[in-house]
Amino acid sequence: MSNVINVPLGTRSYAIHIGAGLLPQLGLLTAQALRGRACLLVTDSHVSQIYGEFAAASLRAAGFSVSRAVVPAGEASKCGEQLFALYNAAKQAGLDRTGIVVALGGGVVGDLAGFLAATWLRGVAFVQVPTTLLAMVDSSVGGKTGIDLPSGKNLVGAFHQPSLVVADLATLETLPPREIRAGMAEVVKYGAIRDTQLFQALEKLATTFSKAWKIPSEIIARCCAIKADVVANDEREETGLRAILNFGHTLGHAIEKATGYGRILHGEAVAIGMVAAARLSTKLTGLPDADATRLEALLTKLELPVRAPGLAWPELRAAMKLDKKSQGGIPRFVLLKKLGEAVTGCVVPEDVLQEVAHGLGE
Ligand code: NAD
Ligand code: GLY
Repeated sequence: MSNVINVPLGTRSYAIHIGAGLLPQLGLLTAQALRGRACLLVTDSHVSQIYGEFAAASLRAAGFSVSRAVVPAGEASKCGEQLFALYNAAKQAGLDRTGIVVALGGGVVGDLAGFLAATWLRGVAFVQVPTTLLAMVDSSVGGKTGIDLPSGKNLVGAFHQPSLVVADLATLETLPPREIRAGMAEVVKYGAIRDTQLFQALEKLATTFSKAWKIPSEIIARCCAIKADVVANDEREETGLRAILNFGHTLGHAIEKATGYGRILHGEAVAIGMVAAARLSTKLTGLPDADATRLEALLTKLELPVRAPGLAWPELRAAMKLDKKSQGGIPRFVLLKKLGEAVTGCVVPEDVLQEVAHGLGE
């Protein structure tokens, strides 16, 4: 059984297919969505070993010619050096304007390969095949692509929507528990900003979650539906709506940068960032203390970090200044009025920010 969710964006609309055992249908689904024949399958060193050949075989069986490019696993690959290596791979694969980039992997591969697709020959089609929970519920949908710079996360990028997303839930069976937990942070985010029913369902799930690390497909589908709705209404983060998806990310991105990309996973940094944002919200936007406590308790039950001991405030503050969401060097935060309702573009007084950030270090 698979779920199909549409992302309605006019001529750039696309379908997200969600279900267990979809990888063998990748070729067929791609052929239904796109006319090109040459594919560059971009993946990382872990995912290539487990799923690379399955994906390539499915594409070949549907008539595509497939070249494979493999980047080292991990956040450090979301960089200019790997991007330029992929441009060479695209050239060698003979990828012309009808060519297709297929991103098989987590958010790192999706963001990097998506940016390759956005910029190669001024833009070619791409297909997202997310294999992490985080990529299934967040990064594979919505068309944000890009790379990190030493000076900041995602500082170079483009909006470039995929033509198709194929999320095979069976691939989550090989994903390490730490990565599942990191993905759960983005799942909790959707509940906190947009859907109290989802939040309650997660509180229930959290009581047994660490025994099985299994996440019901309806929850993944619900997250994709929320993201599809937000993106359809503010594709390029112009009205402020899409910015709600950045809840927990202002401090989260700063933590990732200050600790060197990859040591604290993106989802883990977002968990800490959401706790900080909730505390700021109790001081600035009227979030009841009890709701901030519920959020922290849920993340703790999911075995996510909620503190960042040892992080130096000056480094964090400097990283926030360079954050994409800053304006004139002043960081902007997404805060909560209550669970399920977020406010964007919030400026936080320096003393309040410092007090909350210090609290996280305890
Ligand atoms: P990731 O891509 O680094 O994958 C995590 C690890 O899991 C890697 O080691 C990978 O090799 C391994 N892996 C992937 N699938 C596997 C599987 N099925 N079985 C076994 N191992 C597997 O990390 P991620 O958490 O998926 O993505 C994080 C990135 O996503 C960050 O760079 C973040 O900025 C980005 N992101 C982008 C958006 C967006 O809208 N574009 C949204 C959220 C996050
Ligand atoms: N993950 C944030 C966004 O897609 O806008």
